[in-house]
Amino acid sequence: MSGIYIHIPFCKQACNYCDFHFSTSLKNKDALIKAILLEIKLRKNYLQDSTIETIYFGGGTPSVLSEKDIFSLLEIIYKQYDVSSCAEITLECNPDDLNDEKLKELKRLEVNRLSIGLQSFNDEELKWMNRVHTAQDSESSVKRAQDKGFENITIDLIYGSKFSNITNWRSSLKKAIQLNVPHISAYNLTIEEKTKLGHDYKYQLEKAIDDEKSAEMFLEMIDVLQKNNFTQYEISNFAKEGFYSIHNSNYWKGKHYIGLGPSAHSFDGASRQWNISNNNLYIKYLNDGTKKFYENEILTETDRYNEYVLLSLRTIWGIDINYLKQSFDNSYVSNFKNQLDKLIKQEKVIIKDNIVTLTEQGKLLADKIASDLFV
Ligand SMILES: C[S@@+](CC[C@H](N)C(=O)[O-])C[C@H]1O[C@@H](n2cnc3c(N)ncnc32)[C@H](O)[C@@H]1O
Ligand code: SF4
Repeated sequence: MSGIYIHIPFCKQACNYCDFHFSTSLKNKDALIKAILLEIKLRKNYLQDSTIETIYFGGGTPSVLSEKDIFSLLEIIYKQYDVSSCAEITLECNPDDLNDEKLKELKRLEVNRLSIGLQSFNDEELKWMNRVHTAQDSESSVKRAQDKGFENITIDLIYGSKFSNITNWRSSLKKAIQLNVPHISAYNLTIEEKTKLGHDYKYQLEKAIDDEKSAEMFLEMIDVLQKNNFTQYEISNFAKEGFYSIHNSNYWKGKHYIGLGPSAHSFDGASRQWNISNNNLYIKYLNDGTKKFYENEILTETDRYNEYVLLSLRTIWGIDINYLKQSFDNSYVSNFKNQLDKLIKQEKVIIKDNIVTLTEQGKLLADKIASDLFV
């Protein structure tokens, strides 16, 4: 079983924090869709003889696409691949795009999972983020989607901006729970250098909140969501039973996927490939074939080990020592065990049935702990 990711690199406005690949000019939209259709054909053998379990439209903002655009992409995927009849088909949406007509289109297209970027329930903060929508738009978009029969909905939230404190974060979590969605992704605001926020931060026009406050919000979120029947199956992802994201879980479990469109990444078990992050060049190179529209690298054993550690440690499934023993040279396993003893004593990880997972305190330091375990 494998997954397909399609990157739609267009947004109506640039959010002040966002470093994903997108353009706010939609003038090349049709040419770009054509180029993705061509890429799908050219790479038809990338995932060898595999059934497709998930299709994920990410961005950027895939909800800016028309029904015809999405149909043309799905049509060729269905022609070219053996797509499971119960495949999870996710589309990332911005609340302002989710009117009744758009929701009907998505139903007709058999999209069965919506990822809606709410980000915040505070209008002042949404304005500061340069989001297009208000908090009211966000809440009504979720309700409209539910009324149209979408059950599998996830919302994105961001905490840790200068607007957030433990009191309003508690009330945001309450609102998120009241929306009655079965999945929530919540990210600590990262200040990315090449964004407006990164620029303002560098020139001291903006301040970051301190790590202790973010940590308090993170732990509060775990507590509140757990009490409301959500499982934290990955550091930033919480779901009710039966609603884990299959597509993202498969990334973390090391399953294979093909990424289509500018900036998209692919993984076939032995190598990684990433497409050029430039819409015009992506279109040009695909059409005229003068240059490669992607780069790739063969993964070494060390790359594979480090990736396994990094991705698994963040999940509920943890690092499986038996898997390490089966898949890597003994030297990797002994390095792991040496570091593990220290981390257990520091109460950052626990081990049960040969599976290593993070403690609550460890979750605050996940990337650092993973790097301690790297070779
Ligand atoms: C690439 S966006 C696509 C979703 C959609 N365009 C939207 O904005 O709703 C995926 C998610 O990443 C999160 N994100 C992007 N940049 C971030 C940052 N600098 N810090 C924390 N979260 C971020 C946001 O929550 C966003 O919804
Ligand atoms: S957060 Fe979403 S809408 Fe905002 S710029 Fe990034 S991809 Fe576009």
